[in-house]
Amino acid sequence: MIKDLWYKNAVIYNLSVGSFMDANGDGIGDFQGLQRRLDYLQGLGVTCLWLGPFQPSPMRDHGYDVADYYNVDPRYGTLGDFVEFSHACKQRGIRVIIDLVVNHTSDQHPWFQAARKDPESPYRDWYVWSDKKPADAHQGVVFPGVQKTTWSWDKEARAYYFHRFYDFQPDLNTANPEVQAELLKVMGFWIELGVSGFRMDAVPFVIATKGPEVKKPKQQFDMLRTFREFVQWRCGDAVLLAEANVLPTVDQEYFGDDGDRMQMVFNFQVNQNLFYALASADTRPLAKALEVTRVPRPSTNQWGLFLRNHDELDLGRLTEAQRKRVFDAFGPDKDMQLYDRGIRRRLAPMLHGDRRWLELAYSLLFTLPGTPVLRYGDEIGMGDDLSLPERECARTPMQWSDEPQGGFTKADDPVLPVISGGAFGYERINAAHQRREPTALLNWTERIIRMRKECPEIGWGDFQVLPTGSNAVLAIRYDWRNNSVLVVHNFDDRPHEVALAVDGEGKSPRLVNLLAEDHNDPEEDGRHRLVLEPYGYRWYRLGGLDYLLRRTEGPVGGAKRS
Ligand code: NOJ
Ligand code: CA
Repeated sequence: MIKDLWYKNAVIYNLSVGSFMDANGDGIGDFQGLQRRLDYLQGLGVTCLWLGPFQPSPMRDHGYDVADYYNVDPRYGTLGDFVEFSHACKQRGIRVIIDLVVNHTSDQHPWFQAARKDPESPYRDWYVWSDKKPADAHQGVVFPGVQKTTWSWDKEARAYYFHRFYDFQPDLNTANPEVQAELLKVMGFWIELGVSGFRMDAVPFVIATKGPEVKKPKQQFDMLRTFREFVQWRCGDAVLLAEANVLPTVDQEYFGDDGDRMQMVFNFQVNQNLFYALASADTRPLAKALEVTRVPRPSTNQWGLFLRNHDELDLGRLTEAQRKRVFDAFGPDKDMQLYDRGIRRRLAPMLHGDRRWLELAYSLLFTLPGTPVLRYGDEIGMGDDLSLPERECARTPMQWSDEPQGGFTKADDPVLPVISGGAFGYERINAAHQRREPTALLNWTERIIRMRKECPEIGWGDFQVLPTGSNAVLAIRYDWRNNSVLVVHNFDDRPHEVALAVDGEGKSPRLVNLLAEDHNDPEEDGRHRLVLEPYGYRWYRLGGLDYLLRRTEGPVGGAKRS
């Protein structure tokens, strides 16, 4: 087993260049602005940035409609600026992964333009066509309510083309060997420019069979191995992080039985059940989600964990009753909901700006099995702007200070309005203010990241959910190289007392609190009794702080254990 897989204990920070920092005053965030903020990000402690798409794009889906894979959109700068940025990250020991959006292109991409104009064009077969509208064209739309069909008529081509997402995002025919070769070339290009991997967009659709005759798309998992081999050959420690919102029964197919496909996959199952637990204070479905998505250890595979991301909070995998519970708690108004399945708000307003609740949610992000992925602005508790359409509401500019436009830009007209006024406006919620306030969320986040880095057990270890006797309290123990960590979370707005048998029924060691002074010794029956305040959480180490002296070497060899 390779011992230095960086992604096992990375702290990933997701941002889009356009909404982070505008250096040249045109109202749009850019690479120079982002570069000037790298010291902020380094200070926060994040170890890897994940950039949303920044390639030239008509920007009809926040850049997820790429018109040229080999360039930087002029709004954000030049390829030269990108290389300066990636070099500056390297100097600070920060890695960069970027979105790889290759299920589809923009309809403005020259490949699609060539394909639609001329049936004889070599690019014609880079897309997916049909003379007649397939009967199931209304099925499988990803954005119900906004998108009506997956097949649209193209006047110029005089044919229907397939688009899993919006109609301006024609699907690439990813089964075409030439398309596959091009896709590898795109990855190779950005690797040369310094990236450490890719967040692969819409993976289940990238590898699906496509075409008018396809009734039930089948995933061609071998393609994932090809991507992995290529990336790892070009850059040994680069990773692929898959966006694959799939059932736990097929998760393993994305990792590959021999760990030969994606190193990382986002854990949507845990995400949805985590929000259910936050809404209901019932942690049982979350504990079950952790079990069904358990990755056998040791393993090179790793889950990517997140709370809110740049999309809606998709609740599609919950039961009807569970989904209703989450809607009632976090998105009761129609206007807060999206695509019949999710909530489009940011985390802080969903949790009523309640600091105790936010800390609970973040403590969970940093202690559930996997690698945490933060969303820009969440470290200061930014809000949303529900007057903006669809998912735009949660993509407003970063709030840096209480200066005009939150310090994001000198322009009067930023790319999206900076949130202003009220509980979440930049006047109240901004990084400069929180930087000066020792107890502010920003400084709390910095400290919790620092502690997370000192608990490699969480990223690497075996976990066990311990019975607590209370549905509202989740206790997880991690073991790794003769070191153990225990994390306990109370999801309820009421206090709970629990009794924990931390070491089976045997004599339990002292629990040393890593975040405060209240350590805990077992009672005579060997159990630990804890009283957790509303939304209370604890991070403990088992035994004394001599754990580093007790740490053993890990197993070398065998990548997998069943
Ligand atoms: C998933 C991305 O996260 C989302 O923002 C985008 O709209 C779709 N893929 C299409 O690329
Ligand atoms: Ca700019």
